[in-house]
Amino acid sequence: MAGPVRLLYHFNADVQSVRRDGNRMVLDVKDWKPIGFAPAHAAHAEAIAALEGRGSTLSELVRIASAGADLGGKAIHYYLDRFAFGRLLGWTIVDQEGELGRVQALAKLFVPRREPLPAGPVAMSRFAYLRRLKETMLLESGLVRARIELKPRGLALLGAILGAPCKAASESLAGALWQLGFFEAVDVEESAAQRCWEFHDLLLHEASRANREVLPVGGTYRFDGAIPPMSAVRPDYSGKRIALPAPDSQSIRQRSRSLDDLQAERKSIRDYADSPLPLDMLGEFLWRVCRTTGTLPLQHQDLLSRRYPAAGSVHELEFYVAARRCEDLRPSVHHYDSHNHALVEFEGSQKAALRIVEGCGRAMALQPGRLLPAAAIVVTSRLPRLAWKYEGMAYRASLMNTGVVYHLMYMVATDMGLAPCATGTGDSRLLEDAIGLDRLEETTIGEFALGMPAAAAAASSD
Ligand SMILES: Cc1cc2nc3c(=O)[nH]c(=O)nc-3n(C[C@H](O)[C@H](O)[C@H](O)COP(=O)(O)O)c2cc1C
Repeated sequence: MAGPVRLLYHFNADVQSVRRDGNRMVLDVKDWKPIGFAPAHAAHAEAIAALEGRGSTLSELVRIASAGADLGGKAIHYYLDRFAFGRLLGWTIVDQEGELGRVQALAKLFVPRREPLPAGPVAMSRFAYLRRLKETMLLESGLVRARIELKPRGLALLGAILGAPCKAASESLAGALWQLGFFEAVDVEESAAQRCWEFHDLLLHEASRANREVLPVGGTYRFDGAIPPMSAVRPDYSGKRIALPAPDSQSIRQRSRSLDDLQAERKSIRDYADSPLPLDMLGEFLWRVCRTTGTLPLQHQDLLSRRYPAAGSVHELEFYVAARRCEDLRPSVHHYDSHNHALVEFEGSQKAALRIVEGCGRAMALQPGRLLPAAAIVVTSRLPRLAWKYEGMAYRASLMNTGVVYHLMYMVATDMGLAPCATGTGDSRLLEDAIGLDRLEETTIGEFALGMPAAAAAASSD
């Protein structure tokens, strides 16, 4: 390593100039009105001016701010916090040969840690990760609202300290990365709350909400003009088609109970009768939950209407029935054609259908010997259709859409006297492999167990 590694504090590129007239200072910030303020002492103004250009270490800033002035450290920290609030700061990690990495705040209020470096060993945080973005290598973390663009030498030096915990000496890369939050003391136990977060949970949460205002999250249509949108109507499968009996809306309306009754009665039922699920009931369930009620051709991408709300009305979800014991259906996987209210059977998918239903049985912890549900409704997500519009949050939106559908499934199943149970631990590959899905085009996102309730379970809900 080429000598000491230092973390320089400086204004970021949004701060176009720093003007000073005595103690009066004015910052010209891109797209903002000029920000004027007057530090109490010339030394404080001097320290603020030192944030221009290449910048200074925190200890240099404190030293400059304290020269002949009271409370220099307090003052510079006050101003750093104010500048961090406006996301006006950046940091550069340097050694004697030059830059190792550039730190960008992703959200307002990010500042490096100011506590003393830990005495014990440090190592990369279990929430941190390295990835390539175009030509840049980024060090990011679900815990840190900043990221580091590592230069090749910075990467090499990082590689050299990743193998084992090391000391966070002052003026070391490990020390700088600890201050920035990417390294953690290994002998300090995480809080109970933090221990409960897994790497991917925190990353999905942080990255898919507007928690990092620098990164776009929302309907940006970033692929418009670059990638044609996937059609709203899923291309037809070619298997045997089974037209489902058309439900009678009038009779459904007459026998349907009040929302309040259904909410009171709704429960997950895992005790099944030894009888098949009648095709007209399965058909009515699918018709009431999953059918497409309208299409809306639009300039950006075609939208759909269904009986449940969906982010942007994109309706990326598709539905399949893994039938174990359904009247007039072979025990196979079937696609629900939501536009024509029909099922399309997949040849040779018997084993997969049973394995999907058995997977639901395991998710519901059904003991050997207990009856399995008659069917599983497999929910898939054509995620690129949603991601074509939504940036940063497509998977989150698809999961939320799935939750909405689950609730409707519960309500309709309750209204029909069926046995519903959402499940949360399915294996996406079972359906994907059975019907030859490219998982990047369409992947299983959930399974919902459906069957006829055992007499006792049915009676207890009367
Ligand atoms: C997203 C989600 C996932 C679930 N996953 C499972 C599961 O894997 N196994 C299971 O037996 N129940 C599962 N359930 C059902 C819950 O255990 C059930 O809703 C909860 O215990 C409350 O009981 P109730 O539905 O009878 O009110 C899930 C429910 C939801 C909403």
